[in-house]
Amino acid sequence: MPVSEGMISALLDLKRADEEGLAAQLTSQLRSLIATGRLGKGRTLPSSRRLASDLGVSRNTVTYAFEQLAAEGYLEASHGRRPMVTVDGERIEKTDAVASRVRAGKPRLSPWASSLTQTDWPMSYQAQLRPLRPGHGDFREFPNEVWARCLRRSAVRAAKRELGPVNRTHLREALAHYLATSRGVRAKADQILILPSAQAALTLIAAAVITPGDDVWVEDPGYPGATAAFRASGARVVGMRLDEQGMQRIPGLAAPKLIFMTPSHQHPTGRLMSLSRRTEFLGLSRPGKTWIVEDDYDGEFHYDSRPVPALQGLDAHGRVFYVGTFSKAMTSDIRLGYLVVPPALVNTLEIAQRHIGLIAASHIQEALAEFVADGHFLAHLRRMRRLYHVRRDHLVEGLERHLGEVLSVEVPPGGIQLVARLKRGRADQAAVKRLVAAGVETRALSSLALGRPCDHGLLLGFAAWRESEITAALRTMVSCF
Ligand SMILES: Cc1ncc(COP(=O)(O)O)c(C=O)c1O
Repeated sequence: MPVSEGMISALLDLKRADEEGLAAQLTSQLRSLIATGRLGKGRTLPSSRRLASDLGVSRNTVTYAFEQLAAEGYLEASHGRRPMVTVDGERIEKTDAVASRVRAGKPRLSPWASSLTQTDWPMSYQAQLRPLRPGHGDFREFPNEVWARCLRRSAVRAAKRELGPVNRTHLREALAHYLATSRGVRAKADQILILPSAQAALTLIAAAVITPGDDVWVEDPGYPGATAAFRASGARVVGMRLDEQGMQRIPGLAAPKLIFMTPSHQHPTGRLMSLSRRTEFLGLSRPGKTWIVEDDYDGEFHYDSRPVPALQGLDAHGRVFYVGTFSKAMTSDIRLGYLVVPPALVNTLEIAQRHIGLIAASHIQEALAEFVADGHFLAHLRRMRRLYHVRRDHLVEGLERHLGEVLSVEVPPGGIQLVARLKRGRADQAAVKRLVAAGVETRALSSLALGRPCDHGLLLGFAAWRESEITAALRTMVSCF
C-alpha cells in the first residue's frame, strides 16, 4: 500500500547502536520502501530538515541518504527542492519475483551444460590423492627447487617484458624442438598453442570443427574427458572396439568428422596402436573433412623398448591435431598443456583460443621454456622413467602373486597406469566401491565404456606410488576380494 508523506518517518526504524551507521540504515530502508512500491514513482519526500527532525538525526545523515539514492537512480534531488521518487517500485518488485521463481525452480541449462552434467566424470575422488589413483605421476619427485628458480627468474624478467604473444615464443620453440626429437612430431613452433590443459585442447578443437550432428569416433573403452568434450559440442560419439592392435574400425561405416585416439598408450588399456592401424586411420582422414586427434597424454613414459613416434609425424597432409600435457610429465597442478594444430587451422584456432579465453599465464610459460631449454625437463623424465618402470613391475608382480586368481593383468609397455581384468563376475563397480572405502582408489573399467557390454576390471595407477605404498595397497586389495 502506498505511504503518505506524514507516515514516512513512522516506517523508518533507525537503531543508534547499529554498526551499519545511521546514514547507511536510512539509505537502505528508504531504498527498500521505493523498491517495494510503497513510495511510488512521482512521490515527493519530506525535506531533509523535516525528516531529520522527525527522526531525531542530524540533517547531514538525511542529506547523505538522499544523495546516495539519487546517485543510484531512485530519487531526483536538486538543490532547494524536495526529493522525488523516479522509479516504479512495482516493476522492480515484479522483476525480482520472476527472478526468485526462476531461482527456486530447476535451472534451464544449455544443451552444452546438460550434456556435461550427464557425463560420468570421477568428481567423487577426494582432493587428497590416495593409492592407487590412476592418471597421476609422482609430484613428490618433482624438482621443486629448480622449478622455483625458473619461476622466480621469469617473474623478475616479467617487469621488463613487453606485453608479448598469448603463446610465448620461447616455449613454442623449446616444445617444437622437444617434440621433434623425442616424439617425432613434425611442426613449426607457430603451430603450437599453449593451453591450460589437454582437456582445454579437446574443448578448443571441438568448438572449432564440430557441427552438431557430426560423427566422432572414439576408443571404447576410452577417455571420458574426450567423450564429454565432443558430446558437449553436439557430436554423435561412436565407440570403436579395441583389439591387440588398438582401435578397430567398424567395417562399412562412413568416415566421421573426427577420430579421437590415444595411439601411444591407449587410455585405459595402455596398448600401443600398430603401424598398420595407424596407416589405416590416416588413410581415412581427409584435410578439412575427417580430422584425427592424437592425445599423447603420457607418451613420455615407455619402459620396454624405444618409444614409437607419434602418429602425427606420419601425416604429410596436415590432418592430425596432436595434444599433449605437462600434468603427467611434471605435476598435475602445473595446469599446462599444448596443441599442435594442422597448418590450415592455425589462424582460426588462435582466434578461438583468445575468444574462449584458454590462455596460460605468461610467466609460467616463460619459466617452463627455461626448464625445457636448460634440460631439466628431459632430466626429470629420464629419472621418472626409471622410477615408474620399477613401480610398474612391482605392481604387476604383486597383483600376479597375490591376486592372480581374481585378476588378470595387462602389462602396458609404458604410461602411468594399468588395467587388471576381473577373471570372474561382472561387478567391477561394486569392487571399486569396496576398495575406495578401504583406501585404495581405482576406477572401474566398465565405467569407461560407452554403454555396451565390456570387460570388467580395475584401472590402477602405479607411477605416483612408492613401492612400499603399492605393497600396502596390495594388502588392502587382498582383504577386499
Ligand atoms: C587420455 C587423457 N588425455 C588427457 C588427459 C587430461 O590431461 P589434462 O590434465 O592436461 O587436462 C588425461 C587425464 O587423465 C588423460 O587420461
